[in-house]
Amino acid sequence: MARPSYQPKLDLTDWKKTNTQEFEKIRSIVAPELHSFIEEHAALSQLMDQVREGYHTELYHKALDTIAHELEHHFLYEEKYILSRLANHITETEVGPIAKLKNEHNIIRKHYQEAMVLFQNHDPENPSQELVQKMGLLAYLLKKHIEKEDHYLFPLFSVILTQEEKAAIAHDVHLHTSTRKG
Ligand SMILES: [Fe+2]
Ligand SMILES: [Fe+2]
Repeated sequence: MARPSYQPKLDLTDWKKTNTQEFEKIRSIVAPELHSFIEEHAALSQLMDQVREGYHTELYHKALDTIAHELEHHFLYEEKYILSRLANHITETEVGPIAKLKNEHNIIRKHYQEAMVLFQNHDPENPSQELVQKMGLLAYLLKKHIEKEDHYLFPLFSVILTQEEKAAIAHDVHLHTSTRKG
C-alpha cells in the first residue's frame, strides 16, 4: 500500500492584520535612523494581508513585483548595512542573530523564486491550488519575518548599535536610494 505523502498544513490562526496604532508604538521604540526599514515593513505587511485573501491575478503580480524589489533592496540593505555593523558587537556568524536573519532571508528568496515560476506558468482561468498555497506561504513567511524584525530585532538594534553606526546605516541607505533614483 502506498504511503500517503506529507501534506504540509499551515496554521494561520496567529495571523495578525497590520494596524496603525501598533505601528506607531513600534516606531517609538526604534531609532529614527532605522525608521525607513520599519516603514517598508508596514507597507509590505499590508500587501501580504491582501495576498492572504486568495487568488487575484493583478494582486499576485503586484505582490511578486514588490517582493522582488524588497529582496534586491531592503533585504540587501539589512545584510550589508545593519548586520555588518551588528558584527562589531556580536562576532559569531555561524549561529545567533546574524546567521539566522540571513538564513531567513534566503528561505524567503527561495520561496519567492518558486512562486515566480508558478505564477509565470499559471492559467488565470484556472489557477492551481499549488500557486495559491505558495503565495499564502510566502505571505506568511514575510509577515512572520517582519513581525520578528519589528518587535525584537529593530528595537534591539536600536540600543545595541552606537549612534555613529546608526547614522552610518541611514547614510548608506540614503546614498544607495538617491543614486538609484538619480
Ligand atoms: Fe529582513
Ligand atoms: Fe526587514
